[in-house]
Amino acid sequence: MAFSEKRENNGAAEDSNHSRLIKLREFDDTKLGVKGLVDAAVAKVPEIFRISNNNKHQLPSDLDHSSSGSVLTIPTTAAAAAVRREIVGGIRGSCEEWGFFQVVNHGIPEGILDEMIQGVRRFHELDPEIKKRYYTRDLISGFFLVSNFDLYRSAAASWRDTMGCVAAPDLPPPEQLPDATRDILIEYSKQVKRLSKTILELLSEALGLEPNRLNQLGCGAGQLLLGHYYPACPEPEVTIGVTDHTDASFITILLQDQIGGLQVLHRNKWVDVQPRKGALVVNLGDLLQLVSNDKFISVSHRVVPKRIGPRISVACFLRPLIHKGDTDSPPVYGPIPELLSEENPPVYVEADVREFMRIHSSRGLDEPSPLQHFRV
Ligand code: OGA
Ligand code: NI
Repeated sequence: MAFSEKRENNGAAEDSNHSRLIKLREFDDTKLGVKGLVDAAVAKVPEIFRISNNNKHQLPSDLDHSSSGSVLTIPTTAAAAAVRREIVGGIRGSCEEWGFFQVVNHGIPEGILDEMIQGVRRFHELDPEIKKRYYTRDLISGFFLVSNFDLYRSAAASWRDTMGCVAAPDLPPPEQLPDATRDILIEYSKQVKRLSKTILELLSEALGLEPNRLNQLGCGAGQLLLGHYYPACPEPEVTIGVTDHTDASFITILLQDQIGGLQVLHRNKWVDVQPRKGALVVNLGDLLQLVSNDKFISVSHRVVPKRIGPRISVACFLRPLIHKGDTDSPPVYGPIPELLSEENPPVYVEADVREFMRIHSSRGLDEPSPLQHFRV
C-alpha cells in the first residue's frame, strides 16, 4: 500500500473513532442510560451499541446453546455430616467443571428476593430528573447510577444500566440511598453478607481447606452490590446485554428475575442459566481462580438482550478490602500454600489486589482478564 493511501485510511479510522467518541459522550451526558433511549421510543439500536463485523463472535447467535448446570442445596447447620459432605462434593464438582452453580435453601426469604428486584426496578423507573442526580462514573464514594462501566473502552456498548454501591464493610449512610430502594437494599445486603459467609465456608471445604479459611483470608470483606436493568431491546440480534467477561471477584452472588438471558461458557458452548424461582446463582471470579491455583475456574458469562423486558438482576461481588482507608497495607493474594505441592507448583505470583483491580477496570470487559498478568 502506498504511503499516502495508508495515511488516508488511518485518517478515516481516526475520524470514525472521533465521531464515535462524540456519540458516546452525548449518550453519557444524557445521564439517563439505555432506559432513556427506550423511553424516547428508539426503533433502532443506535450505532454505539452495534457489534461490528470484526466482532461478530460476540453476537448471541454465534454458538449453539443448551441449558444445564447444578442446583445445590445449602446444608442447614443441623445437617448430618454425611449430607454436608455430599453437598460439598457437589460444589467441588460444579466449581471444577462449570465455575458456577445455583443455590436453594439459602435462607433468604423469597419475599426479600422479590422485593429486591422490585427495588431495583423502582429506582431505574424513577422520574428522570430525580434519577439523573445519581449518575456518575465514581463507583466508590456513594450510591451511583451508570450505564456501561467500560463505555469508553469497549468496542460496542452493552444494552444495560446499573445502579449500586459498596455494601461491605459498610453501605453508604442511609440518607444517601434513594427512597425507591433504601430499605430493601439494607435488608438484602445484610442477608447476602450472612449467606456469603456460609458459601465461603462451603467453598473452603470444597477446596479441602479449613472451613474458615476463605473468610479469614478476607474473601468477602469487601462487597459491591449492583442492580442491573436490561431494557427491552428493539433489535436484540445486533447488540448484547453484557459482553462476555469473567468477574474480578472471588465469587459473585447473583439474583435474577424470570426473564432469562444469562449464559455461561461451558466447553466452548453458551449454556443458558435458567432462572429458577427463589434460587441464587453463584459464579466464581478471577480472584478465586488465583487463590485456588486454577483448581477452581472463573467462568465466562454474558447476557443476551431480548425484545421483552426489562430484565433485572442484582449482583453482589465478594472482594477483599481494596479502598483507601480500608487497610493500611495493600492486600496481597497468591495461591493458598496448603493447595501447593511438588506436583502442584504455584501457577500465579502474588498479586497486589489494588493493581489487580486497576487492570480489571482499566480495560474493556471484553479484553483478557487480569489473571494473565500474574501467571508465573
Ligand atoms: C455482572 C454480571 C449478570 C446478570 O454483573 O458481572 O455478569 O445476569 N451480571 O446481570
Ligand atoms: Ni459478571
